[in-house]
Amino acid sequence: MPRSNAIGSEHARFVTLARAVREAIGQDHRYAHTLGVARLAARLARRHDEDPARARLAGMLHDLARLYSSERLLAECAARAMAIDAFEARHPIVLHARLGAELARERFGVIDDGVLQAIARHTVAAPDMTRLDTIVYLADALEPGRTYAERETFEALAFVDLDAAMVAVLRSSLDYLAKRDLEAAPQTLAALSTLELRRSRRSA
Ligand SMILES: [Fe+2]
Ligand SMILES: [Fe+2]
Repeated sequence: MPRSNAIGSEHARFVTLARAVREAIGQDHRYAHTLGVARLAARLARRHDEDPARARLAGMLHDLARLYSSERLLAECAARAMAIDAFEARHPIVLHARLGAELARERFGVIDDGVLQAIARHTVAAPDMTRLDTIVYLADALEPGRTYAERETFEALAFVDLDAAMVAVLRSSLDYLAKRDLEAAPQTLAALSTLELRRSRRSA
């Protein structure tokens, strides 16, 4: 197939995906966030030698279950026999990430485990994130529709050093939770301490 046709059909596939995602999400604000995440994830992937198409796909599908109520999240996870840990039981909202990965597989036919894992980890992170996981996590936290003081600085840092940006974003969100006396997920704390340990070993 000539290159222009290949690009044309890729674009047509993206337009079809975007329409289906918009319909599945059903809210303009959340859809605009989704597009922002997909675009930033693709740019970060290009910069850090990851596949921009996989990053963009994970970005497009990361928040499919974000607007579900706690009851619906718990019920849909139970219907799929997904294990729910103590933190998730106390804060069902975080389940939208793992359930979102299931919906990406069931409804959008995604079979790429790396993409599904990046979706599943975009909210509480994990101690052993792949580069794709990190890119999607950062794109979610840093897309231009987010409005907080450090966003632009963190975004610039993400184009230079993914791990450094991850440390900065994790510290900032843990700070935010601590100031409001809110509980942090054990996976988020583990993600930060693993990264800090790795970085201190590197600089030793
Ligand atoms: Fe989310
Ligand atoms: Fe999101």
